Order: sequence, then structure tokens, then C-alpha cells
Amino acid sequence: MKLVTIIGARPQIIKAAALSRAIRNHYSDRIQEVIVHTGQHYDDNMSQVFFEELQIPRPDYNLHVGSASHGVQTARMTEGIEELLIKEQPDFIVLYGDTNSTLAGAVAAAKIHVPIVHIEAGLRSFNKSMPEEINRIVCDHCSTLLFTPTKAGLDNLKREGFPMDNNGPFTIDNPKVYHCGDIMYDNSLHFANIAEEKTDIIQHLELKGKPFILATIHRDSNTDYPERLSAIFDSLIELSKESPIVLPLHPRTAKLLKTNLSNEKQTLIFSSNNIKLIPPVSFLEMIALERHAQLVMTDSGGVQKEAYFFKKPCIILRPETEWVEIVQTGNAILADADEGRIMLAWAYFKDNPPTMFPEIFGDGHAAEFMLDQMLKM
Ligand code: UD1
Ligand code: UDP
Repeated sequence: MKLVTIIGARPQIIKAAALSRAIRNHYSDRIQEVIVHTGQHYDDNMSQVFFEELQIPRPDYNLHVGSASHGVQTARMTEGIEELLIKEQPDFIVLYGDTNSTLAGAVAAAKIHVPIVHIEAGLRSFNKSMPEEINRIVCDHCSTLLFTPTKAGLDNLKREGFPMDNNGPFTIDNPKVYHCGDIMYDNSLHFANIAEEKTDIIQHLELKGKPFILATIHRDSNTDYPERLSAIFDSLIELSKESPIVLPLHPRTAKLLKTNLSNEKQTLIFSSNNIKLIPPVSFLEMIALERHAQLVMTDSGGVQKEAYFFKKPCIILRPETEWVEIVQTGNAILADADEGRIMLAWAYFKDNPPTMFPEIFGDGHAAEFMLDQMLKM
């Protein structure tokens, strides 16, 4: 069986490590994987670092599309992906998540009848102003095999009319939905101890034995709106009076901080001893930070889930989340970009640190399950 895997943005590169590892360890005699990097993320610390650290095979193709508007970026990727699908003639294209690289892969493959496997299917924010919501819906509705990580994802697909008890042959018109756990849970379990051994970021940041907050911010709905970005940074300034904060800065945020925050606020943030603004870190460093943090504040999908994997409370800097279970179990609070709500959530978690984290993301072997289903087709 031949798979073409499309990756492009940081979280997809990390997710791909789990499938590639399973292929290398258990299926190398039966499955050939051709890896295509669209080039959506291209800085070394947003891309190359993960290939080295997570032992992901070097991409067979790199489309080098780089940054552009949604339409231009997606169009360039679609053109490149179509061309190489025609050349490679795979049995499946494998698409992760909800980025423009996912959308381009879905549109290119569906039109030339290459069956699509969507990993992380069924997630919905019910907020179509998010570019990712459009990407997810299109990809799900073009897919043949849909692997959903959560029960909420399964329910969403049911509601959208996907059949649940159908038999094969499976096609784009008779798609098969599997609820199989989260491939990122596979990765977090696999790399957790390796991260402790191989990184020294906690010592390097002089945080050994000290409680700290880990924060990430990169959603366009936060970075691109000065009032929202300011509210988030006001809360960070306030929180830094109580706890050190580590903030690995996504390049989008690094750029927009300079235009969307007042000079006065920038000076406060950049001169603060308790706000550690650092470049994007590697995945092993990120896991180490998540394991040692007392609390996580983020608008990232991946990071809010990893907070849960490592049993940390999370303040979500968005009005809604696709990962509803982590809010329903009381381990995350939706605070949006609202300083008052962020401070209330912090006060709540300080007095009520969560202790129960039910297993809702599978058993750490989602990758093997997915590959078995593909082989059965
Ligand atoms: C993208 C995804 C988002 C995902 C995020 C993960 C879409 C629509 N969005 O958002 O779902 O959560 O990746 O990180 O696909 N930039 C650099 N260097 C890089 C990459 C980006 O400087 O290596 C800067 C550029 O100024 C670029 C901006 O970041 O314009 C945004 O990058 P882009 O890939 O368009 O979107 P993200 O915000 O990263
Ligand atoms: N991540 C990382 N270094 C960082 C920030 C995040 O390795 O500096 C990892 C994080 O652990 C998670 C993934 O990147 O696995 C999440 O990606 P991101 O927040 O960029 O996107 P999202 O998950 O919101 O799509």
C-alpha cells in the first residue's frame, strides 16, 4: 500500500511522527509512505527541528509555498499536490487536522479520485469565521476514511449525516468513520520520558522547582485584533506579578506584537523579568515545559490537549473549543481574550487544582489502528 502524507504546519509535522514511527516499526514490509511538505511553515524552529528530533523521514517533496493570503497559499499547494498525486498514484492521501495544507490536499485529491484519509476528523468549533473550521468541514466531506479522536467528533459527524453502521466498499460517497483516539496522545506518551532525558530547558530557564505558567498565542482571531491581543497581554502582565510565565512566541505573534500592542505595553513585556519571551521551542522542550508548568494558557488546539495529557489545568484564550471534553471535565476554562475572565480562571484553578483526568483520548495506539483499517480496504 502506498500513502502520500501531506504536512505543512508545525502541528502536522509533529502528528506525522506517530504514523511514520508505526510504519517504520510494524508495517515497513507492507506500507510505503511518500511525505510531502507543502512549505507552509519553513523557519527551522517551525519545521526542520521536528524532523531531526522526532525522527520523521526527510520529505520526498517540498513544495516551498511559504506564506501568502489564504487563496494564494491554498492554490499554490493544490497545484503542486495535484501534480505529484498524478505522478505517485497512491492508494490514499493522508491529511491531518485543519490547516490550509489539509484543505489543499483534500481539494486536489478529491477531484482526481484519490481516496482521502482524514486524521483528526469531526472536530468543530461551530465558528465559521475561523479558517480552520472551513478547512475541516471541506476535508471531512471529501474523505473516504475518517478517524475521529473524540466522542464529540463522532457525534458531530453523525449530526452531519455521515453513516455510522455502513459496510464497504468505502468510497467518498460511502465514507467510513472510526472513533479511534488521538494520534497526539500516542506521541505525548512516546516522547514524555525522552523529553526528560534529552532537554534541559527547565534548568536553562532557571525554573527548576519553581511553579510557572506556560503560555502560547497564535490564533489570527487573537493576534490580528489589537484590543484582543492587548487584553491577553494585560492579563499576562498581571499574572507575572504572581508567577513566572514562559511564552514561546509563534512567528505570527512575534510580528504582530510590534504593530498591535502599544509601545508602552511592549516595553513592559520585553523588560519584565518574569515574562520569558522565547523563540518557538522543539517538541521535546515543549513537552518538558508542559510537564513542569503549574498551569497552561493557550489558544492552540494541540497545546490545550497536551495540558490535559499531562494533567495540567488550562485557560483557553478562545470563546470556544473543538476539544469540548476537556472543558466538560472541569480541567480547562474558556476565558476568551478577556482579562477579567482570565484572572477569574487563574484564581479558580489556584484554589481548585483539578485532579481527575479521565482517559478520553484513546490508548496511545491510534496510529496502528488507523494503519490496520487502511490495510483492510
Ligand atoms: C497555521 C494554521 C493554523 C495552525 C497553525 C499552527 C491555517 C489557516 N492556519 O496558522 O490552523 O494552528 O498554523 O502553528 O492553515 N511565519 C513565519 N515563519 C514560518 C511560518 C509562518 O514567519 O515558518 C509567519 C508569516 O508571517 C505568516 C504567518 O506566520 O504569514 C502565519 O503563518 P500561516 O502558516 O499562514 O498561519 P499560522 O498562523 O501559522
Ligand atoms: N509546539 C512546539 N513548540 C512550540 C509551540 C508548540 O513544539 O514552541 C507544539 C505543541 O507541543 C503541539 C503543537 O506544537 O504539539 C501545536 O501546534 P500549534 O500550537 O502551532 O498549532 P495548533 O495545535 O493550534 O493547530
